Amino acid sequence: MEEKLIVRDYFNTTGFDRWKRIYGDEAVNRIQHSIRVGHGRTVERVLEWLGEVEGQTVCDAGCGMGSLSIPLAQRGARVLGTDISERMVQEACKRRKQQLDTNVNPSFEVLELERITGTYDIVVCLDVLIHYPLPQVEKMLAHLSDRATAHLVLTYAPKTALFTLLKGIGQLFPGASKTTRAYQHRSTDIEAILSRLGWKIARRAAIDDKFYFARLVMTER
Ligand SMILES: C[S@@+](CC[C@H](N)C(=O)[O-])C[C@H]1O[C@@H](n2cnc3c(N)ncnc32)[C@H](O)[C@@H]1O
Repeated sequence: MEEKLIVRDYFNTTGFDRWKRIYGDEAVNRIQHSIRVGHGRTVERVLEWLGEVEGQTVCDAGCGMGSLSIPLAQRGARVLGTDISERMVQEACKRRKQQLDTNVNPSFEVLELERITGTYDIVVCLDVLIHYPLPQVEKMLAHLSDRATAHLVLTYAPKTALFTLLKGIGQLFPGASKTTRAYQHRSTDIEAILSRLGWKIARRAAIDDKFYFARLVMTER
């Protein structure tokens, strides 16, 4: 089956339940807790890097349950969050209502990132590229690049020995959720793609916890 369909199925079924726990506040196992902590740090860092976003347009591609879209809207950005998974989008809408008491901003849409149209000051894509091999990542980044005027902000899973080991022994995707693969990417490959697309790296960070490994990059023209 095509990678994208596998990913969509996963985030509409077992993956949805798993990530709802991770992106929630109920008790979870130590692996999920570590991913929750790492992901929380990524979101915090993006908010810090973007700073004043009042009035800016942001597209959160692969927005999941709105972990970044909601705080950005709270800070005055006009946010569109899109996700390939219907259930993730439903949950994002639920959290928007609970946290912001509105149905308007952020707006959420079930839409794969390759079909996003229009342009935005900032395009963000957090913890999505891990699900795709490099040739597909290149196509996705090309599409997102055309949507962004000022900044592209993204994470990818780095090729590190520890991550490779954990992945190899199935720690990161235990049980039925093994149906998605975790692809690691070399920083040189990702940065070369961004450079070919005409971007400079403005900021980069390594955000690692015991079971969460992300390289966060923000570009500028
Ligand atoms: C690990 S979650 C991260 C969610 C969110 N970005 C965050 O950091 O909270 C990955 C998300 O990417 C979405 N996704 C995967 N492939 C996608 C695609 N091709 N287009 C849009 N969303 C996609 C999944 O459905 C899932 O919600």
